[in-house]
Amino acid sequence: MIAALAPALLLAGYVGSEVCRSCHPDVWVHFFRNPHFKSIASGREPPERTGCEGCHGPGAEHVRARGGKENIRAFSLLEPEQTIGACLACHAREISRAAIRRSSHTMADIACTSCHSIHHSPVPQALLARRQTDLCYECHAEVRAQFSLPSKHRVNEGTVKCTDCHNPHGAQAPTWRMGLRPRMIEVAQANEQPCLRCHTDKRGPFAFEHAAVRVDGCEACHAPHGSMNARLLRRPAVFTLCLECHNGAGDFGRQGDGVRLTSGSHNMADPRYHNCTGCHLRIHGSNSSPLFLR
Ligand code: HEC
Ligand code: HEC
Ligand code: HEC
Ligand code: HEC
Ligand code: HEC
Ligand code: HEC
Ligand code: HEC
Ligand code: HEC
Ligand code: HEC
Ligand code: HEC
Repeated sequence: MIAALAPALLLAGYVGSEVCRSCHPDVWVHFFRNPHFKSIASGREPPERTGCEGCHGPGAEHVRARGGKENIRAFSLLEPEQTIGACLACHAREISRAAIRRSSHTMADIACTSCHSIHHSPVPQALLARRQTDLCYECHAEVRAQFSLPSKHRVNEGTVKCTDCHNPHGAQAPTWRMGLRPRMIEVAQANEQPCLRCHTDKRGPFAFEHAAVRVDGCEACHAPHGSMNARLLRRPAVFTLCLECHNGAGDFGRQGDGVRLTSGSHNMADPRYHNCTGCHLRIHGSNSSPLFLR
């Protein structure tokens, strides 16, 4: 088998994937279903991008020695950073180097192989080491409880996925919330909040925007995972949420005099005025009322 290869390849130390079969039958037997098999099937890739050696590097020395870990790229011996580098040699198109480098996963030494299993993936999508929600919960147990609260996105039921909102490979810096606390939030088209991909009616553009929605972001008022309160709201009583900003403090706002206080007509002793969104119906933005009344 080795003898059949062109001398130039042998010089570089590449022997081709067939050679690995005899000693690693357990890996080979499933490999034809692996998306990485395409490089073998096509026969068009250069040796350093084909099959086993595309990831494990040239195998001649390893084969000559009839095994060993030091003479081949064994991922079990690599630092997280080296693993990321090896995979990004081919995947830098889907995964931005800049984003993954500063993601909290990379900073916490989480590498590709913490989430992907090249040879033993039990699921059909993306060679994940486990079903997506189980995978994420394994390290983020506290998040599971949030998705069991009375008001929630149905992630445990499979309607919504973590990756609908997050990019585990790191995300671009968002434009809302002044880019603070990005939390690997996936940025949708046009640098928007991912929420708008599904809640398209909140996208606008509205003639009258509520600055809170676009500038502060949806999380200013909603707990994205789950909440004890209806509509995923951060506070049990809507008016307390509104008054956190509408308190006249700061120098923000149209007149530079702070976020507007409710006007004198609003009698907070009258329970009628506690239901702010009973009158300010179009709280996410309106095309006909600057005060979002219709
Ligand atoms: C896409 C990159 C990639 C390709 C292609 C690849 N491997 Fe691997 N291989 C890995 C990674 C990553 C690991 C480490 C396993 C882990 O941490 O989950 C691994 C582990 C192994 C192991 C250790 C035992 C095991 O089951 O984990 C052997 C042996 C192995 N690979 C052989 C091969 C052979 C033979 C081929 C070709 C048929 C091949 N690999 C193709 C990435 C690859
Ligand atoms: C003659 C038998 C033989 C052949 C051929 C062979 N290997 Fe191995 N390989 C072994 C043995 C034995 C080990 C275990 C070494 C150890 O545990 O110290 C091993 C270990 C490995 C490992 C390290 C797994 C780990 O624990 O991280 C990788 C990767 C690997 N082989 C890939 C390949 C690839 C790719 C080829 C084809 C180019 C190949 N092997 C061909 C015998 C072979
Ligand atoms: C030699 C180039 C190469 C290297 C190195 C490589 N890959 Fe791939 N990978 C590919 C190609 C090509 C595909 C198939 C893309 C397609 O289906 O069109 C692929 C597919 C995948 C997929 C499946 C994508 C899907 O949509 O299902 C995952 C996950 C993946 N690679 C992860 C990795 C990881 C993790 C590593 C490092 C251990 C790695 N790859 C190393 C070339 C490579
Ligand atoms: C924290 C977990 C995690 C880490 C770390 C991780 N991935 Fe992923 N990756 C995922 C998940 C989850 C998906 C599936 C996304 C989906 O279903 O939308 C995915 C999808 C992919 C895909 C399919 C194409 C795509 O972009 O959706 C490729 C290729 C891939 N990952 C490669 C890599 C490589 C290479 C690394 C390391 C540089 C890596 N991943 C690190 C969790 C991870
Ligand atoms: C192997 C463990 C592990 C897995 C698996 C994992 N994470 Fe993480 N994740 C971490 C660690 C460690 C951090 C950084 C420390 C922290 O902030 O909790 C982190 C941070 C995060 C953050 C950012 C937190 C912040 O404050 O910036 C998000 C979002 C996140 N992970 C989502 C996911 C998603 C979605 C998945 C599944 C696709 C996933 N993680 C899988 C370990 C993991
Ligand atoms: C509907 C969108 C959405 C879904 C689905 C989602 N997240 Fe989040 N997640 C967010 C947002 C937005 C934040 C930032 C919250 C903030 O900064 O107040 C966040 C924050 C986080 C954090 C940082 C810790 C914290 O509480 O601030 C982690 C970890 C996390 N998510 C993990 C996950 C995991 C794991 C899943 C799937 C089981 C998931 N998320 C599903 C939108 C989502
Ligand atoms: C993948 C699509 C998707 C994404 C992305 C998404 N949502 Fe949702 N959202 C839904 C679905 C579906 C429901 C309905 C929940 C149900 O029926 O259990 C929902 C429900 C809600 C509700 C509660 C509505 C009610 O009547 O109780 C709020 C509030 C909400 N989402 C806000 C957000 C925010 C904020 C984000 C971004 C952090 C977001 N959503 C991202 C699909 C999505
Ligand atoms: C200023 C606070 C605030 C912000 C910011 C905000 N919301 Fe809301 N949202 C509310 C309130 C209050 C309700 C409940 C309205 C009611 O009582 O009828 C609500 C209800 C909802 C509902 C369920 C009812 C409906 O109208 O469909 C969804 C879905 C929703 N919001 C999504 C979003 C999304 C997506 C964003 C970001 C683009 C966002 N919200 C930003 C305050 C806010
Ligand atoms: C995160 C902070 C924040 C929260 C929470 C918030 N708002 Fe606002 N709101 C603003 C800002 C900023 C403006 C723009 C003020 C300006 O331009 O002077 C605004 C404008 C308004 C206006 C238009 C006022 C005007 O003079 O143009 C109304 C009405 C309003 N908000 C009602 C509400 C209600 C009702 C709630 C609760 C459901 C609420 N807001 C929650 C920040 C917030
Ligand atoms: C009964 C209906 C109603 C309720 C309930 C209500 N508002 Fe208003 N709000 C109005 C009307 C009408 C105006 C415009 C006329 C005025 O200022 O009285 C207004 C004006 C405003 C303004 C703009 C003031 C200015 O000077 O530009 C803000 C801010 C505001 N409301 C916030 C709130 C908040 C916060 C709540 C809940 C605590 C609330 N509103 C409850 C009807 C209501």
